[in-house]
Amino acid sequence: MEAVFSYLEKNKARFISELCDYVKFPSVSAQPEHRKDMTQCADWLANHCREIGLETRLAETPGNPVVVAKTPRAKNSHKPHYVVYGHYDVQPAEPFELWKTPPFEPRIEGTSLFARGASDNKGQNLAHLKAAEAYLKTGTELPCDLTFVIEGEEEVGSKNLAEFLRNNRQELHCESVVVSDTGMPSKKHPALTYALRGIVAVEIILHGPSRDLHSGIYGGTVDNPAMALSQLLAQLRDKNGRVAIPGFYQDVAPLSAYERKQFARLPLSIPAYQKLLGVRKLFGERGFTPMEQRSARPTIEINGLTSGYQGEGSKTIVPSWAKAKLTFRLVPNQRPSQVRAAILKQLKKLCPPTVRMEVKAGHGGEPYIVSPTSPHAQAGLRALKAAFGREPILMREGGSIPIVTDFKKILGADTLLLGLALPDDNAHSPNEKFDLECFAKGMQMSAHLWQELAKKT
Ligand code: BES
Ligand code: ZN
Repeated sequence: MEAVFSYLEKNKARFISELCDYVKFPSVSAQPEHRKDMTQCADWLANHCREIGLETRLAETPGNPVVVAKTPRAKNSHKPHYVVYGHYDVQPAEPFELWKTPPFEPRIEGTSLFARGASDNKGQNLAHLKAAEAYLKTGTELPCDLTFVIEGEEEVGSKNLAEFLRNNRQELHCESVVVSDTGMPSKKHPALTYALRGIVAVEIILHGPSRDLHSGIYGGTVDNPAMALSQLLAQLRDKNGRVAIPGFYQDVAPLSAYERKQFARLPLSIPAYQKLLGVRKLFGERGFTPMEQRSARPTIEINGLTSGYQGEGSKTIVPSWAKAKLTFRLVPNQRPSQVRAAILKQLKKLCPPTVRMEVKAGHGGEPYIVSPTSPHAQAGLRALKAAFGREPILMREGGSIPIVTDFKKILGADTLLLGLALPDDNAHSPNEKFDLECFAKGMQMSAHLWQELAKKT
């Protein structure tokens, strides 16, 4: 094992420059104009996996290709098999003007590497690849067989990956899936995540007059879709921060007294948190702490709101339409289909007769929760401790990785979530960065993990 760790240490600078190459691809899955960048990024990644010594193929899907890369294995290998999942797609980089330097031109400042996708998720999945490289290039025997599955559609709901899992069920049969795509409260608090929120996305468009109208000539006689939409949206959340949709909370699993006690022990300074996010005061569902609100309670968010004239100066119109993009985060045991039906019913009820409502269904993902005391989780905790030199904590995260429930349903495997992102990484925001110490520790953690997991079986 010494050879593995000294290889990781010696090649640090090259790994960083490889991460720079990886983040240069604008692999934005949400935007059709980046289709070509998606395949170029997948090609780069597949070639990289081959250079490391992994048996690699690109699996085509109706969407973006999946990179599948396996450690060489004996024909009748009895080693335990683990799938390492990650994604090479990234969120849109807009608004560009808020980036200190362009999002796809990586910049290093101190211990941070700035670029869209550096933290979410290219830096994190590259850490696992580098650990595998260290084993393969030093001729150190890996105690586990590994298959990397790195997809290009996570940020748009992984809509083609379940089919890929079904088609490759045998090849992907494994003890557990390992994912680094979540966070930790600080470098002093490495963390194992044992729950993720689910998600339901909807887009609402209210159609008013057949074209933008002069607001002086016609205003007052026709409904204004932007106003109607604002009023409709305002009725979806009450003043206590609860989602005002009948049936929305029907299946929500209450937090146990034990879990609430654990949440209370997690490090969170409210003034520091406010400062980090740039808000004057926090807002959340009454009766719950911020830690609980952000990871264990369901929410509604408006992600985008568009209508009327957005340019410089004024334009006096009644806009023809207004649009909102919404997502709801779900917690155990909410089901996306039930929640979606409740949302649609309420939207129909609230829509005034003066506008026509169009609702587009977006992606959905189930919430996930797994035992933090399983032997896999224990191995994960030992690997985190060995790499970070600190006692790891257990946490629930508010973000979603929709495919993890499919890993369970299709492959029968739980997911071990060992995140390397920091709260100030600016995931999905301008000036995203990845901490290079987390990158290095992440590689060490991965190298330890295969030893720890093999001990378990
Ligand atoms: N890495 C995140 C998920 C995440 C972040 C989990 C932080 C826990 C903590 C992932 O890339 C992501 O952003 N997922 C999307 C999924 C959605 C688009 C279906 C999300 O959560 O918004
Ligand atoms: Zn993301």
